[in-house]
Amino acid sequence: MRAIVQRSASSTDLTLITTHPVPIPISNSTEHLIRVQTCGLCAGELLWPKNFPPPKPRELIPCPDIAGTIVSAPQGSPFRVGDEVYARTNYNRPGNAREYTIGVTDEIALRPKGLSWAEIASIPVSAETAWQALFIHAGIVASDNDIDIAAAQKLWKGKRVLVTAASGGVGIWVTQLLARLLGATVIGTCGTNNISLVRSLGADEVLDYHKTDLKKWGALAANKVDVVIDCIGKKSLADSWWTIRDGGVVLSIFQPPRQACPDGYKGKGVRDVFFVMSPNKKHLEMITKLVEQGICRPMVDSIWPLEQFKEAFTRLDNGHARGKIILSLTLNQ
Ligand SMILES: NC(=O)c1ccc[n+]([C@@H]2O[C@H](COP(=O)([O-])OP(=O)(O)OC[C@H]3O[C@@H](n4cnc5c(N)ncnc54)[C@H](OP(=O)(O)O)[C@@H]3O)[C@@H](O)[C@H]2O)c1
Repeated sequence: MRAIVQRSASSTDLTLITTHPVPIPISNSTEHLIRVQTCGLCAGELLWPKNFPPPKPRELIPCPDIAGTIVSAPQGSPFRVGDEVYARTNYNRPGNAREYTIGVTDEIALRPKGLSWAEIASIPVSAETAWQALFIHAGIVASDNDIDIAAAQKLWKGKRVLVTAASGGVGIWVTQLLARLLGATVIGTCGTNNISLVRSLGADEVLDYHKTDLKKWGALAANKVDVVIDCIGKKSLADSWWTIRDGGVVLSIFQPPRQACPDGYKGKGVRDVFFVMSPNKKHLEMITKLVEQGICRPMVDSIWPLEQFKEAFTRLDNGHARGKIILSLTLNQ
């Protein structure tokens, strides 16, 4: 089969192999063989093997997100051969830029109806990260897998939340979940070209990061926020510290927020959070419902045939994707 392989953790070079063996599910496990239709790239992922080596050495195949069809299912699986599914697959195993891949029961969900294969593969890692940030890690709702949406809505309603990179893969989900599901007041940051997009996702206020100095903006008492959800890190995260109320929460999916806390910051009682998402079937099923109900929608930046992986990763690396970049295993076939 065709597969994209990163030869070593120390280099981000990728190679297309056309004679790669098809993976074989481990017997007596919950592994399924899946025929891949589309797979999704994630910002920064080619650096993960170096910065976060997998717990056990494994082949480095990129693309954590997959949409495809079940080819074989283990005994007792809730899925049948032919089911159309999607997932963010576990980092312990190789990724999904290959014609056939492996997915385990606890990470796979049936695909949302009414979307293209590219739209489906654009959802899992971004939406699950946003979900876990808001429902688990921000600490506004102490909760586990069984999320009580009504309780969450009570707690988030009216909270002022700053979302940095609201136009990015994760930011679009954080913005939609906060604005459309939880009733929070969202202030999103993005570039000039994405202002109307972020508004259309439900943000109440949009700050153009080329024009607005977050430190100055946050100095006004009326602008202070209860929670920062940072999706970009570095300077944006550092500047976000000036916007948070005492007792608030600064959460980043990019780096531990204290690493970016600016000199001279004197706020009190602010909780800082960094986490790495984990694939979770229940969360993905909740997201499926929200998509099918029209409450949230995915966004695809571009679709590339597998053979054009270099162009796709170059676009990802320039940091200005509008939604997700997708590789198709069937385009041009
Ligand atoms: N912790 C976790 O579990 C987890 C999970 C998923 C992702 N991540 C990480 O989260 C980060 C974001 O991922 P992503 O997929 O959302 O990224 P992405 O889609 O590649 O982000 C691109 C977007 O960011 C915007 N942007 C760039 N610089 C900005 C700035 N200074 N202020 C505001 N917006 C800016 C760009 O808008 P313009 O084009 O207008 O500049 C573009 O829309 C990555 O580092 C990724 O590795 C972490």
